[in-house]
Amino acid sequence: DWTPEHFIQATVERVRAQVGDGHAICGLSGGVDSSVAAVLVAKAIGNRLTCIFVNNGVLRKDEFAKVQRTMREGLGLNVVAVDASDRFLTKLAGVTDPEQKRKVIGNEFIAVFDDEAAKIFEAEKSAGEEVAWLVQGTLYPDVIESSSVHGPSHTIKSHHNVGGLPENMKLKLIEPLRDLFKDEVRRIGRDLGMPEEILERQPFPGPGLAVRILGEVTADRVALLQEADEIVVSEIKAAGLYRKVWQSFAVLLPVKSVGVMGDQRTYAYTCAIRAVESEDGMTADWAPLPYEVLRTISSRIVSEVRGINRVVYDITSKPPGTIEWE
Ligand code: XMP
Repeated sequence: DWTPEHFIQATVERVRAQVGDGHAICGLSGGVDSSVAAVLVAKAIGNRLTCIFVNNGVLRKDEFAKVQRTMREGLGLNVVAVDASDRFLTKLAGVTDPEQKRKVIGNEFIAVFDDEAAKIFEAEKSAGEEVAWLVQGTLYPDVIESSSVHGPSHTIKSHHNVGGLPENMKLKLIEPLRDLFKDEVRRIGRDLGMPEEILERQPFPGPGLAVRILGEVTADRVALLQEADEIVVSEIKAAGLYRKVWQSFAVLLPVKSVGVMGDQRTYAYTCAIRAVESEDGMTADWAPLPYEVLRTISSRIVSEVRGINRVVYDITSKPPGTIEWE
């Protein structure tokens, strides 16, 4: 009989036996899967798990600080936080093709993760260890659905070894959630006492805001979109809709149009609002957000975000559209 308690107990025992007195690392995204996987493994081996959280420069507003706080103070995890924004944004300069953006971000993530893992394990090597463990929050749908267009979210599965690992050290995979569906992961997280803020978080793509800024990604555009996105999320939450919609977010279009602000003519970017209802992200319907909510979002963005003077609502379902614009 499957219960969260049984699952947690069995997993903790298995991981403890597997890892022995070894060390493990885990990449955190701030999302449900990697957080639950990390908390489970930490329950088994304590601070011999080191989590790595990378700021790729395309996170949401204040996310780098918020996630660190939640993971350290809220969940008691041992977190190494790396602000690699400049590295990512430099690599993204001039890149406009969506899949190229994903490639650049994926490769850069692996490079940053490798550097950090090598530092962590170099320190452990003096303790004479030969096996290191890599924890990943792979779910059952990720396992069966390797055919998905963008690959499994937030995993670095194709990344079989860490480049800078000390000689003789082998990296083995721990995937404690690989038999589970998302709702089971949430139940386990709840049983582990994790905050709803993490468990109910809407999905957020690994390449982050980079695939929500059409055309080139620059630091200025990221800052604009962070402001607009923050308004969308907070208004959706205030309206009690955050858990009803699958995803709700802003997209920055590099299209300038004319507006008027006070007695000034403006010429600024357009922002699209996207909100969809979905069971699994494979198909989705555009969400009929109340006009009042749209009105508030629109007027707040135009008055608070200098650089955006027009807001439009995306009424395309999937298929034929996709959820993200890139
Ligand atoms: P689309 O846009 O393909 O999105 O309808 C379906 C779901 O996948 C998410 N998504 C991604 N997640 N890396 C991710 O980790 C990606 O490159 C990526 N692209 C899309 C999207 O947010 C939606 O939930």
